[in-house]
Amino acid sequence: MSSDSSNTIESVLQEQRVFMPADEIANKASIGSLSEYKHLAELAKSDPDKFWGDAARKELHWFEPFNKVLDWSNPPFATWFQGGKMNLSYNCLDRHLNSSKADKEALIWEGEPGDVRRFTYRELYVEVCKTANALKAIGIKKGDLVALYMPMVPEAAIAMLACARIGAPHSVVFGGFSAEALRDRLIDGEAKAVITADGGFRKDKAVLLKPSVDSALEGNACPSVDSVIVVQRTNENVNMKSNRDYWWHELISPQSAECNAEPMESEDRLFVLYTSGSTGKPKGVVHTTAGYNLWTHLTFKWIFDIRDEDVYWCTADVGWITGHSYIIYGPLSNGATTVMYEGAPRPSNPGAFWELIQKHKISIFYTAPTAIRAFMKSGRTVPDQYDMTSLRLLGTVGEPINPEAWIWYKDVIGGGRCPIVDTWWQTETGGVMISPLPGATPTKPGSATLPLPGIEADVVDAEGKSVEAGEGGYLVVRRPWPGMMRTVHGNPQRFRESYWEYIKPVDGKHIYFAGDGARRDADGYFWVMGRVDDVINVSGHRLGTMEIESALVSHPAVSEAAVVGRPDELKGEAIVAFVTLESGRNFDNALINDLKVHVALEIGAIARPEEIKSSDALPKTRSGKIMRRILRALASGEEVSGDTSTLEDRTVLDKLRA
Ligand code: PRX
Repeated sequence: MSSDSSNTIESVLQEQRVFMPADEIANKASIGSLSEYKHLAELAKSDPDKFWGDAARKELHWFEPFNKVLDWSNPPFATWFQGGKMNLSYNCLDRHLNSSKADKEALIWEGEPGDVRRFTYRELYVEVCKTANALKAIGIKKGDLVALYMPMVPEAAIAMLACARIGAPHSVVFGGFSAEALRDRLIDGEAKAVITADGGFRKDKAVLLKPSVDSALEGNACPSVDSVIVVQRTNENVNMKSNRDYWWHELISPQSAECNAEPMESEDRLFVLYTSGSTGKPKGVVHTTAGYNLWTHLTFKWIFDIRDEDVYWCTADVGWITGHSYIIYGPLSNGATTVMYEGAPRPSNPGAFWELIQKHKISIFYTAPTAIRAFMKSGRTVPDQYDMTSLRLLGTVGEPINPEAWIWYKDVIGGGRCPIVDTWWQTETGGVMISPLPGATPTKPGSATLPLPGIEADVVDAEGKSVEAGEGGYLVVRRPWPGMMRTVHGNPQRFRESYWEYIKPVDGKHIYFAGDGARRDADGYFWVMGRVDDVINVSGHRLGTMEIESALVSHPAVSEAAVVGRPDELKGEAIVAFVTLESGRNFDNALINDLKVHVALEIGAIARPEEIKSSDALPKTRSGKIMRRILRALASGEEVSGDTSTLEDRTVLDKLRA
């Protein structure tokens, strides 16, 4: 692991601009001043059990109260809200039915071709109950894992809530992943069923999904999977296997519209979501019921300053954690109106996002820096054609945002009046950890600002000692929090080693290592610089270099591969692969193309290398470890600096340079 970061932000640390919260926001916000934030943070620090316990009782509905807030006697394995029973789907639906929210819109969905579906809380409740009953009807029981491989259709949200309702953990696999990647996740999670669709619409085309499920299951590759439920979206012809495949509409329409929410233990598994790490295959991040519900509920309320009349839109895909926490669970638990969009901006409709904001009078908009940079590049002519005066708050997530993009977002999209919340978090953290609070925190472009109350974030050296203001170090969290991941599915040791013991516990206290580098300025503001491990962030999508390398070496022409990220103006990072070929293979355009296609088939199009270079050897240490630091420098055309004395064969460097 190297300590240098792919995003150096010296310039960012020179950033002097500060934007104060507007009175209009502060007057109504749930946390309305910096002193209120500090007071809450102090309360959370001095008596965390009381802070979290009070919040859990106040914000959530419990079937049975918990008798202990946190058990941290066996770190890093935490138990939150022991003894309590609750159900996340109940908290997202049922509890709103006895209030004015029952007939409020819960979900507004827009398909790429422009078809719109709307669900009030009551209507969503009915759909979820029917789906929950359908899952039971095909034999899904509490504790069974259900995989979702879906386009962005309302049924994805409905299926997730239905799983939560009957206590069947879900494992959502991003629809852009390949059949191979899906198969790995189905096998690892021992999924009992897969919910999918014939396909979805993307960039003006119908993209098929069901054939990938068929291919993943071929030859009984995933023996645990008994059934596949298929949503009809594109009406393309797909194969349906008898006794295994069911059409969603046929299965669900006859079901009863009532299904009691299963009382779940606080620590019952809610979902598994796979994410890339620096070693091995993607790991199944496990989240559990109560802590995740509390954390997504509270953070959504604090950060998005949600009001009853808001229409909130997060552009993520439900296949990622942002979709889980901030399209579905956080907003619905708060009784908000959440928008879901199947499509993306595309040449035929570059203003797709702004059109949606205008059409649905969206007031809160949450997207990724990579999208903002792409819009910025094509200028303000397109956004200026739309009325976006409904917007009052803007958010970003997924990667560091450069100050220029931040300012552009604020001025051009937010009309200069909308505060920006730059939210730092991860699949593992369940919800946002570091972010401005729009009514309280003065913002600085490019900084995620301050940790949320209850989050003891810090920047430390390799020994876990806090570094001085302005110095770079590892971003860590010093205490457990309710939304933290509980383990790596099937591999508790990996959980322990990669996150909580990567930095050796100091005075017996475990420290959570996030994998990111950061600095803190003199005001205590966090400036996240990007990953310090072998994870690359391409357009906000997280990929392990090892995964891409494994995909490359599974091609018969490749004997060895090393993958690094190169800074990219639009994507944040671009994938550059160095390969050594089997003897007798020619490195020509046909092979380069073949290798790119091969990676896309093995993992998914998001992992397709931007550039592939060939070399007859890779730079390695004497112990055989590839020196990625050198390759990163070469990939970005920089001088190779630092110590190269550990190189096994120094001539390799000259050859690579040549
Ligand atoms: O490197 C950080 C970056 O995204 C990583 C987490 O990726 P993932 O688990 O896929 O979750 C993405 C959505 C929460 C982090 O380790 N990251 C996320 N948000 C930010 C960020 N980097 C800088 N600033 C952010 N606001």
